[in-house]
Amino acid sequence: PTIYFVTPTYPRREQIAELTRLGQTLMHVQNLFWIVADDSDICNKRLDKLLDNFGIPYILLSSPMPSIYRSQKTIPRGVSNRRAALAWIKYNNIKEGVLYFGDDDNTFDLRLFSEIRYTQRVSMFPVGLIGDYSISSPIVENGKVVAFFDSWPAKRKFPVDMAGFAVNLNYMAKFPNSTMPFKAGYEEDAFLKSIELKINEIEPKAKDCTEVYVWHTQTTKTKAPMIKISNDVLSGSKTNMHA
Ligand code: UGA
Ligand code: MN
Repeated sequence: PTIYFVTPTYPRREQIAELTRLGQTLMHVQNLFWIVADDSDICNKRLDKLLDNFGIPYILLSSPMPSIYRSQKTIPRGVSNRRAALAWIKYNNIKEGVLYFGDDDNTFDLRLFSEIRYTQRVSMFPVGLIGDYSISSPIVENGKVVAFFDSWPAKRKFPVDMAGFAVNLNYMAKFPNSTMPFKAGYEEDAFLKSIELKINEIEPKAKDCTEVYVWHTQTTKTKAPMIKISNDVLSGSKTNMHA
């Protein structure tokens, strides 16, 4: 099965560095299709060129966050991007393969991909460097997920991180109304509820959730100013740059 690896990204100083590191990880993975969704209202030609050079089958989507959400106190990061990827999968009627949400700044052990590739419905596994407990993970007893270890339960049915699960596309297609709402902090829970997941159906991976194959790493942000480049330049319709 093909792994559809969905990466939200957004224009900022670190964008090219993050995607270079991630792309060079994904180059090692067989049978992977990379859906990169950029939080931008233009198709960035330079980004497209970067992705093309990895030699990985990919699509670059322009998926700007609606401005009403951008002014919120906690903004729903990456949601517009993931929704665009889900819409693209539906539009192309893809019902075979496995979906995984891999943010552009996370760190992936190559063993993750062999773990998730044979997901029947929804598989889950630990994510390192998350929250106050440094880890977020399902708790497994006799090969079954029975509870969750997460420092921010927030009354969620599935207190898991976006990077902590994978979904079979044939299973997902049975729920045509599946969606991810613009609700910061509750995206995973709402999405998993929208595909009517039951706790006893979850497939624990990574040696019954005792191994960590993905980390929620974050790149330090500096306050150095980002030089604003006009959209015309980024989209390739002009060759001159004006500061
Ligand atoms: C955590 C979770 O790991 C994310 O899965 C979740 O989307 C996010 O919180 C959230 O709900 O806010 P975190 O590291 O705090 O992630 O957030 P970022 O890495 O800054 O953003 C998550 C993804 O959205 C990244 O792939 C990032 O490139 C993208 N993003 C971020 C945008 O597309 N637009 C933005 O304005 C900010
Ligand atoms: Mn992140």
